[in-house]
Amino acid sequence: MKDRIDQLLAEINTIRAISMDEVEQLRLKYLSKKGLVSALFDDFKGVPAGSKREVGQLLNELKNKAQQKLDDLKSQFEQREEVSAAKPDLTRPAGHIEPGTRHPLSIVRNQIIEIFGRIGYTVADGPEIEDDWHNFSALNFTPDHPARDMQDTFFIAQDPDILLRTHTSSVQIRTMESTKPPIRMIFPGRVFRNEAISARAHCIFHQVEGLYIDKNVSFADLKQTLMYFAKEMFGEHTKIRLRPSYFPFTEPSGEMDVSCNICGGVGCNICKYTGWVEILGCGMVDPNALDNCGIDSKSYTGFAFGMGIERITMLKYQIRDLRLFYENDVRFLKQFTGAF
Ligand code: DAH
Repeated sequence: MKDRIDQLLAEINTIRAISMDEVEQLRLKYLSKKGLVSALFDDFKGVPAGSKREVGQLLNELKNKAQQKLDDLKSQFEQREEVSAAKPDLTRPAGHIEPGTRHPLSIVRNQIIEIFGRIGYTVADGPEIEDDWHNFSALNFTPDHPARDMQDTFFIAQDPDILLRTHTSSVQIRTMESTKPPIRMIFPGRVFRNEAISARAHCIFHQVEGLYIDKNVSFADLKQTLMYFAKEMFGEHTKIRLRPSYFPFTEPSGEMDVSCNICGGVGCNICKYTGWVEILGCGMVDPNALDNCGIDSKSYTGFAFGMGIERITMLKYQIRDLRLFYENDVRFLKQFTGAF
């Protein structure tokens, strides 16, 4: 009898069930009136009187153990059923999803692309990691030009120099090397300079470069194109002013100011009380740059310009700190809901 009890106890300790039905089967097998445990109680009558106390105790323990085990299994399945009964209520109204907005720099970049698109400029891009030739040498930078200084350029490797492009003018070179004139293109992109981050400067920023090469392109074409752009971007009352400047890859070179759209030219702290703000560099492509790329400078002339997208966006939206563009604060970002 004792052996039989031990055997059943061991069996009960290992029982498992994969459904509520199986739990019920097990209950019938062990604990129902005709079950295995109940059968032992029937046999109990035949146990000699001297052992009754001990065997009775063991039998009761077995019964309790079996009951406990089945209760445990049952409650496991009850819990699972509760979880699966908690199905989502499909009739509830959906939570509010805040739609995203375009980043102000993207809005202005797309607007620049659109404005130049209207006068026949197509868009291309080039690599952010450049070699010395495309970022400097082909653009007529002499070997000791200060812009090559370690202070400005992030070098990645030396001999040969590999660097993060410091301007999108590198894409001018790539385009002139691979495309026959006429060329009428703009090149938007990200550029990198080793500068301390402040309200007015960042080590990563964005430019749009423009290039027009054909027969008989003149400085008057450049001026007219830029005037058209400034009026489209800042409004038809905008005036432009070209000042002589120097870039190795353009001759003559200029910088263009637009009349301050914040004070209307009267003078404010944005234009430093001059009424004008500088927005781009430009000039006629230096014959050396054309020849470096296999374009005959005797037959072709062209102009180029390069503008900073951050600067134009700051003016357009009167943003005083450039770092706001990179902080990703939604309170700032969601103010810009331009169509672009
Ligand atoms: N690459 C110049 C810069 O980053 C900007 C520039 C000036 C671009 C004159 C031009 C240009 O294409 O003609 O400061």
